[in-house]
Amino acid sequence: LLEKGGNVIISSLHWTAYGLTAKSLSADAKLIKTRLESNWEVNVEDLKRLFDTKTKLRILNNPNNPTSKVVNQKVMGGMVDVASERGIRILSDEVYADLSFVKTKSLLEYEGEHIVVNSFSKTFAMSGWRIGYIIADKALTDKIIKPNQITFTNVPVFIQEAALKALELRDHIIKTMRKKYRKRTDPACKILSDTKLKFTKFDGLNSKVFTFNLLDKVELGLKTIAEAFK
Ligand SMILES: Cc1ncc(COP(=O)(O)O)c(C=O)c1O
Repeated sequence: LLEKGGNVIISSLHWTAYGLTAKSLSADAKLIKTRLESNWEVNVEDLKRLFDTKTKLRILNNPNNPTSKVVNQKVMGGMVDVASERGIRILSDEVYADLSFVKTKSLLEYEGEHIVVNSFSKTFAMSGWRIGYIIADKALTDKIIKPNQITFTNVPVFIQEAALKALELRDHIIKTMRKKYRKRTDPACKILSDTKLKFTKFDGLNSKVFTFNLLDKVELGLKTIAEAFK
């Protein structure tokens, strides 16, 4: 999908792997910036201006890591139109969709030859198991399988079985996980509300993780931060 001299358009803030992957293929990453002040929403007019003749792919992460933003459905429709009108495919990374607190619409619900990426790492907390999947047309999946066969070779059978079990219990697991995360994010939001820090309420899971990781790094608890900014 990408080639030397081509470019890929990525909503930013973004998961750094997208830009690094583009770079490893000698493609340029063009960032469409989103801001906390605009609730991390993409401006479709700005997006249009970023596309050029060398654009090969648009990457979307919904809900987004690290902002947790779930794309508004009107904006999503606009973004799909912009890409379709130019014959550009969208790769939608939906690894956080199941854990979202608000309704998310998969790119699969839109017309077009899109690519959807998903993982067992987030919904089922199986990050060490290294299993995920991609939904795309056969021509593309055939191409993906070729390098996979000589690199990953295969997903071990016991991991496939664990993944199958996770899918069988999917509804129950999603309900339990969301409840647990909600129990943690509500007090986090409340503590942050008492500070001068600007933040948006969590749509999906990841800004919670982002906040806690950040706090871990500076070795301060949320309460200490709250005290510092009072
Ligand atoms: C947005 C996003 N996509 C994909 C992944 C990759 O997940 P994994 O390689 O564990 O399936 C991550 C991991 O943090 C992520 O944040």
